[in-house]
Amino acid sequence: MKILVTGGTGYIGSHTVVELQNQGFEVVIVDNLSNSSEEIVGQIEKITGIRPILEVFDLVNREKTADFFKRNSDIKGVIHFAASKAVGESVVKPLEYYRNNLVSLMNILESMKENQIPYIVFSSSCTVYGQPDELPVSEKAPIKKAESPYGNTKQISEEILQDTIKTSEIKTIALRYFNPIGAHESALIGELPLGVPNNLVPFITQTAIGIRKELKVFGGDYPTIDGTPIRDYIHVVDLAKAHVVAVRRMIEDKMKNGFEVFNLGTGKGYSVLEVINAFEKISGEKLRYKIVDRREGDVIEVWADPTFSNEELGWKAEKGIEEMVASAWKWEQAYRKNELLK
Ligand code: UFG
Repeated sequence: MKILVTGGTGYIGSHTVVELQNQGFEVVIVDNLSNSSEEIVGQIEKITGIRPILEVFDLVNREKTADFFKRNSDIKGVIHFAASKAVGESVVKPLEYYRNNLVSLMNILESMKENQIPYIVFSSSCTVYGQPDELPVSEKAPIKKAESPYGNTKQISEEILQDTIKTSEIKTIALRYFNPIGAHESALIGELPLGVPNNLVPFITQTAIGIRKELKVFGGDYPTIDGTPIRDYIHVVDLAKAHVVAVRRMIEDKMKNGFEVFNLGTGKGYSVLEVINAFEKISGEKLRYKIVDRREGDVIEVWADPTFSNEELGWKAEKGIEEMVASAWKWEQAYRKNELLK
């Protein structure tokens, strides 16, 4: 069964390709390589023994997208990762974000309609909840006004999908990710941030390995256990596995609605200092860090209520925080030695 994974050479995409192949799916990747590398295809092959097909083009291009789908009309479903994801950059380049994240989705949906491809799994984000009024946050929580153009593209995308399913055969599962971290246990794939990382864990591992001088902890005066913000960190392999479950749910016709939403989190929140402590414990390294001013747009605390995902999907995040940071550290060390990926 052939599945299209857009953004399949990216961080979450590559881990999902591995899990799909492990479960017997045939994978075609479309990626413009704007934030990833062609070498990832070879890394995936080293893990699974199967080289996924990669087509390099931009899904913002309507003609190229239509041509691709015409040639691949036997695709059973789409997992759509390809999107820009840097919150701060989106504030500086809003139009690029709206074009890139929304036009590509519309192009894919039009081509799916034209070729009678009915299923799409969409990468959404817990950012749609903003700072929730109640924690843990369930899928029933209200959507809050987006803090950034990036967050807004996720909200608008969900709306585009909801409107589309009303007038077509297309069915959607939107997966709202909490904070994906970590890497595949083989350390052959992982997160490859371009330039200075925006996210916490890549910044920690790059600091520990000596590329960054010190980690800045954004804010130490939040109303939390230790003054630093709390997030629900989830191992990227657990996240990847949920996508395979979602694809199966669709093709086995188990969906209860044409548009379903699931939280992908562990249900447990950790503060920034707790993540640093976990890293120091598993690595034996002392991390250089200092507490600085708050970062604009950060919520105080958010963690998932994963009950609906656990019960309805039969999926549960299995890996704990130490395993998450240990795999991220193993990946950082392996990657720095790996000439192929430099
Ligand atoms: N942090 C630091 N220093 C850093 C980087 C991050 O202290 O150098 C802190 C942040 O202030 C925050 C926590 O670490 O408290 C996590 O920050 P990340 O940037 O790793 O993750 P965010 O929760 O800000 O963002 C993530 C995704 C976004 C998504 C958002 C939804 O990266 O795509 O969750 O809440 F929109």
